Amino acid sequence: MVKVFIVTGSVGTGKTTYAKKIAEEKKASYVDVNEVIKDYKLSEGYDHKRKCKIVDVKRLNKALISIIKKSKGDLVIDSHMSHFLPAKHVTLCIVMKCGINKLRARLKKRGYSKDKIEENVDAELFDVCLNEAKEKGHKVKIVYS
Ligand SMILES: Nc1ncnc2c1ncn2[C@@H]1O[C@H](COP(=O)(O)OP(=O)(O)OP(=O)(O)O)[C@@H](O)[C@H]1O
Ligand SMILES: [Mg+2]
Repeated sequence: MVKVFIVTGSVGTGKTTYAKKIAEEKKASYVDVNEVIKDYKLSEGYDHKRKCKIVDVKRLNKALISIIKKSKGDLVIDSHMSHFLPAKHVTLCIVMKCGINKLRARLKKRGYSKDKIEENVDAELFDVCLNEAKEKGHKVKIVYS
């Protein structure tokens, strides 16, 4: 059985940085979910208020499960939506966390609007991804960046 590591967490908490690092360490393939969304044409429009793509979780899960089933080696999946995968397909769910002031500074550096910064900071404060990951029944590991 291939091992499937998913890396989730609020925007800017360091998912991509950490996912690429562990993919190298574990000799696993790094899966960029933004590429999956493009390849499988999963984008269903653009949320102008939130400045992000609209993606149907069920269709994304279907695409990710087919990638998992086809894979001959271990995978590291990088996405704030990866934790919506059913737990039976996932070896370990890594939830990235980051201090609030540090996160605010990172998002500011990206040039995000005040609203977008506060919305994402709230998501981190309320541990949205962590709680959803737990609800989904994943084995969870928290990593601070
Ligand atoms: N461990 C770390 N130490 C210092 N800076 C970090 C660390 N991890 C990430 N960063 C910095 O934080 C910023 C966000 O990191 P990254 O792009 O990995 O986050 P992300 O969760 O993938 O973001 P997104 O949700 O937009 O995909 C980057 O500028 C990165 O260099
Ligand atoms: Mg990223």
